[in-house]
Amino acid sequence: MARTANSRIYVAGHRGLVGAAVARALLQRGVENLLLRTHQELDLTQQAAVRDFFDRERPQAVILAAARVGGIHANNTRPALFIRDNLLIQDNVIDAAHRSGVAKLVFLGSSCIYPKLAPQPIKEEYLLTGPLEPTNEWYAIAKIAGLKMCQAYRREFGFNAISLMPTNLYGPGDNFDLQNSHVLPALIRRCHEAKLRGDAELTVWGTGTPRREFLHVNDLADAVLHLLDTYDDEPIVNIGWGEDVTIRELALLVAEVVGYAGRVVFDPSKPDGTPRKLLDTTRLTQLGWRPKIPLRAGLEQTYAWFKAHAADARL
Ligand SMILES: NC(=O)c1ccc[n+]([C@@H]2O[C@H](COP(=O)([O-])OP(=O)(O)OC[C@H]3O[C@@H](n4cnc5c(N)ncnc54)[C@H](OP(=O)(O)O)[C@@H]3O)[C@@H](O)[C@H]2O)c1
Repeated sequence: MARTANSRIYVAGHRGLVGAAVARALLQRGVENLLLRTHQELDLTQQAAVRDFFDRERPQAVILAAARVGGIHANNTRPALFIRDNLLIQDNVIDAAHRSGVAKLVFLGSSCIYPKLAPQPIKEEYLLTGPLEPTNEWYAIAKIAGLKMCQAYRREFGFNAISLMPTNLYGPGDNFDLQNSHVLPALIRRCHEAKLRGDAELTVWGTGTPRREFLHVNDLADAVLHLLDTYDDEPIVNIGWGEDVTIRELALLVAEVVGYAGRVVFDPSKPDGTPRKLLDTTRLTQLGWRPKIPLRAGLEQTYAWFKAHAADARL
């Protein structure tokens, strides 16, 4: 899609980690005609309200970064909420965008769509080749339905919807609520609080051996805009850093960045989740994009943001 400073772009979920980064990136690139609605202003699970919004506002492009998102605990305890909200949000937005003549839609999925024991690194074609990680299959099934809906609307109606599958993300605006957050923001907050209390020891769930990949959300936003401008095809595209670290390495790096001097220990009685999750980013590289923010620099920037926003961050 040819994006200009006047393009009318709707960023759904602009108060979330991803949506906020995409909105910032668009503003930085001079796009002034952003269309934004908070969850309170427009509940995307409500079909009539969503259709009405698209008919009235007529965006030219949509970045669908609104979703019901959470960590293992939230996924495990609220399976109905996770599958229902995500199916409704994406169904309503994709269909209304098509009906109202949107020129391009970017759907954001997640690396949890891939089989739990997929060969590593995970290529896009491993989708639907094996069972999912059971702790978040509700969320994953909804996301798979979303990317299939984009592909079906492209085939049947010629609707230009693309689907991007980011790895684990982190950065300013992340969710630091311990009940509901992902491993990295939870580690930042717990190390910070352990440092303030002067705790001698900090316990991390699991064995520390699972491997995970992390991408700074500003890098993701840059990739989203690159593919918004240049990629118009059916195959899904992984968005990742290209290398992973063990949870132990991550925990020690976070402790170092935060300045927590106590001991980091692991509790192997707690679940580990998927043993390894590294996305193969060959397709993304071929499409002309590479990430730029290394993990340590990204963590330093995120921790600085966390300290500066402790009052208004999602705690
Ligand atoms: N974070 C990651 O590590 C990660 C990794 C891979 C992929 N992704 C994908 O990126 C997308 C966004 O994730 P995120 O991390 O940015 O999540 P997030 O920080 O929780 O943001 C999601 C946003 O969606 C909004 N929202 C939720 N339900 C809504 C509804 N019914 N109507 C309107 N708005 C609603 C939320 O508003 P409220 O807070 O007001 O409810 C929030 O602003 C998701 O599709 C996710 O799968 C994220």
